Amino acid sequence: MLGIIMAGGKGTRLHPITRSVSKQLLPVYDKPLIYYPISALMLANIRRIVIISDPESLPAYKQLFGDGSNLGLQFEYEEQAEPKGIAQAFLIAEKFIGQENCALALGDNIFYGAGVTGLLQEASELVSGANIVAHQVNDPHRFGVVELDAQGAPISIEEKPENPKSNLAVTGIYFYDNKVVDIAKSITPSARGELEITSINEHYLALGELKVSKLGRGAAWLDAGTFDSLLEAAQLVQAIERRQGFKIACLEEIAWRKNYIDTDQLLSLADKYANSYQTYLRSIVSLG
Ligand code: TTP
Repeated sequence: MLGIIMAGGKGTRLHPITRSVSKQLLPVYDKPLIYYPISALMLANIRRIVIISDPESLPAYKQLFGDGSNLGLQFEYEEQAEPKGIAQAFLIAEKFIGQENCALALGDNIFYGAGVTGLLQEASELVSGANIVAHQVNDPHRFGVVELDAQGAPISIEEKPENPKSNLAVTGIYFYDNKVVDIAKSITPSARGELEITSINEHYLALGELKVSKLGRGAAWLDAGTFDSLLEAAQLVQAIERRQGFKIACLEEIAWRKNYIDTDQLLSLADKYANSYQTYLRSIVSLG
């Protein structure tokens, strides 16, 4: 399965911070925001990832990750000329998708906690149709909201409804079969002029091919798109990392634990740092 990360956008809710810096490069405690959705794709066993961002920001992402080989991954880069919607991802990445299925992760979404890895891995094994991930929230009207029947099958999906039919928000990681490219070509822009991911999901729902996986209450899902959510995400990561000693979304560690890189490669990545990140990478080798 091919992974796609949407790391463009306007970032208007974070202005002036994001007036000259791409949102997904902002720090969430000890690493850039984009590390978190990349870790989600890696945990889903996805190794080929297309990073899509605006033309001004793309060079910074290339500088950050290169071709991905030092993590045992393969990164590709594509420009989104203008932020015309998340579903544009499938048109922009079409040549990389080829005949494959794909997973799309929003560059500002963070997943953490019990059951996340298993759920993502299962979703990535999708053979046909679509699999989206939902999580219970207090303020569903801010999100895409999915309503499920007693068997857990979706009945409706609504984008930012005034009167939500459930508390289940659609999170920013989506798994699709190959026909998503044709579906993306068939949808029309919404009133705000964007190709909406909800339109894609509605299409799969109408086909009877939409599966919804629910993240349990032991999991945390955050998007770091506002002043408060960005700070809260950093505080959550700091609290967990300081208490446990394990890092969240440490890409080098995930690559090593998945045997994408060996211990020598991990240690040479550690040599590139001269701070507590280095100490951490060295310590996981000795502690396991
Ligand atoms: P949003 O948070 O919906 O939009 P935004 O990042 O432009 O921010 P704001 O609402 O404050 O203006 O986007 C979700 C994610 O998708 C985010 O990581 C940016 C990315 N994105 C793109 O890469 N291209 C796009 O066209 C859009 C709409 C979003």
